[in-house]
Amino acid sequence: MHIPFVDLKAQYLSIQSEMDKAIFSIISNTSFIGGPAADAFEKSYSEFMGMKHTIACANGTDSLEILLVAMGIQPGDEVIVPAISWISTAEAVTTAGGVPVFVDVNEDFLIDISKIEERITNRTKAIIPVHLYGNPVDMNALMAIANKHGLLVLEDCAQSHAATIHGQKAGTFGHAASFSFYPGKNLGAYGDAGGMVTNHDEIAKIARAIANHGQEGKHNHTREGRNSRMDGIQAAVLNTKLPHLETWTEGRRKNAQLYHSILNENVVKPIEREGFRHVFHLYVIQHEDRDGLMAKLKEAQIDTAVHYPVPLPLMPCYTSRFHHTEADYPVAARLAKRILSLPMYSEMTHYQIAYVAAHVNANY
Ligand SMILES: Cc1ncc(COP(=O)(O)O)c(C=O)c1O
Repeated sequence: MHIPFVDLKAQYLSIQSEMDKAIFSIISNTSFIGGPAADAFEKSYSEFMGMKHTIACANGTDSLEILLVAMGIQPGDEVIVPAISWISTAEAVTTAGGVPVFVDVNEDFLIDISKIEERITNRTKAIIPVHLYGNPVDMNALMAIANKHGLLVLEDCAQSHAATIHGQKAGTFGHAASFSFYPGKNLGAYGDAGGMVTNHDEIAKIARAIANHGQEGKHNHTREGRNSRMDGIQAAVLNTKLPHLETWTEGRRKNAQLYHSILNENVVKPIEREGFRHVFHLYVIQHEDRDGLMAKLKEAQIDTAVHYPVPLPLMPCYTSRFHHTEADYPVAARLAKRILSLPMYSEMTHYQIAYVAAHVNANY
């Protein structure tokens, strides 16, 4: 039996008739860029988040970069980012003109809040916490440090749609939040798409302008921006999917519980801290012989992945610039060699989970 890492087809089949209708309506009304579907998505995502503004854009990398610029990052400003994330988190700092400053992670893969202050300098302007794998960062503790030092906070919520911290949604603590709606995300479009969320009118105004060539009103270019608009079909897909997000999130959480109960103690399993709702974008275990386990699972036709095999500061693009070594990021360096993401999606059957877990148990 082949177990895919994600099964987007299974999700599509579960909502096929409403999805086909929504996509066809865009084709028939020809509002291919922005338009009523994107407007409707901005409104419903703001309601879902309980925030004042959502600005739909082209992807979750643009949304990080545009928000940093809209928040006032200037050339040379330092922005603190975690040592483990997808590269967009750090890359956006550079493309916005800033300098990424990496902080090691904790055993839970999230930025080690106790190590942030030692990296703050008089050039530090902002922090980007990443709610990695869907597990939310302790935002109250992080905001206390940010406020003490007068720093801006941009939450990278690419992997954490619907995650909460003591009942409050991840993405509502900082000055702004960035979302990716890449197809495999917990809320995914059928192509690239992203969203910027904030309660700050000025950040929203600038971000909206930048994402549409710096226009504030047609042909009134108050600045140079870029083309980072969401297209109508992606907006229609997201409008169709958003009402299902809660059910799908619960599906992921149930599957995570099932993995947890079947996997034996030879692997380190992800844990959910009390009060922190983990939405399991990824189910990441740790094992001494990660590569061996991965190869055995592959033989059994079980697809797995590694998120991410090299900590960001140890990537060639950053070592050539900053000359970091593994000793600078000991936790991230160790975890990166041990982590393995098992198949995880809401439509996975109990049988499929049990099959994967049994193979992990049987091989070690
Ligand atoms: C943590 C994180 N930040 C940012 C992004 C960038 O999103 P996108 O692929 O939509 O540009 C991703 C996507 O993989 C991500 O996982």
